[in-house]
Amino acid sequence: MYTTNFISRSIEIRQERESDFAEIRTLIKTAFMSAQHSDGDEHYLVDRIRKTDEYIPELTLIAIHEGKAVGHIMLSKIWIGNTVALALAPLSVLPEFQNIGIGKSLIKEAHCKALKYGYKCCVVLGSPEYYSKSGYIEASKFDIHAPFDVPDKYYMVFPFVETGIPAGLVRYSNAFIL
Ligand SMILES: CC(C)(COP(=O)(O)OP(=O)(O)OC[C@H]1O[C@@H](n2cnc3c(N)ncnc32)[C@H](O)[C@@H]1OP(=O)(O)O)[C@@H](O)C(=O)NCCC(=O)NCCS
Repeated sequence: MYTTNFISRSIEIRQERESDFAEIRTLIKTAFMSAQHSDGDEHYLVDRIRKTDEYIPELTLIAIHEGKAVGHIMLSKIWIGNTVALALAPLSVLPEFQNIGIGKSLIKEAHCKALKYGYKCCVVLGSPEYYSKSGYIEASKFDIHAPFDVPDKYYMVFPFVETGIPAGLVRYSNAFIL
């Protein structure tokens, strides 16, 4: 059984590099095979986002254990009304490394960097049980709304700042549109 200490001792988190892309593709595909909700497109989504202006290499991170990529997170640009903000998608951890804090650590590190770059908030579509553990709140409470039909509780936001969070309808990169 791995422990939290394992993360600090054995997991390195850093920005992804082009030489990691093939390994990351396999990682995402493998992680989502066991996911409750998946359209099987997540690894392609990452490839598509990387080709757009909405890709932010500095906010796309991997977790490495003994030279192997075991987790990945991508935050990319979206708009809330007319203001640029971030979306978290996707987040992936290899099945044998799940539930030991790697996902939470990736989110924390990505949030820290996003704040330094001046972003105001990050939205996510996903499990409220999971993302609330990292501080995500229903986006509708901030008058932030998804451009698709989804029950409010599954569409969340993490505010990086106390004031000045943009409100309105979210617009995604074309990379999200199949
Ligand atoms: C979801 C995922 C990224 C979580 O990463 P992780 O490193 O396993 O999670 P962490 O170790 O940071 O957090 C573990 C906690 O989250 C909970 N959790 C894990 N996956 C969850 C899920 N899908 N729904 C709700 N809770 C979940 C665990 O029960 C655990 O709870 P605890 O802290 O109270 O014990 C990972 O399981 C994964 O890659 N799943 C497949 C892909 C996927 O579903 N991605 C998310 C899309 S929204």
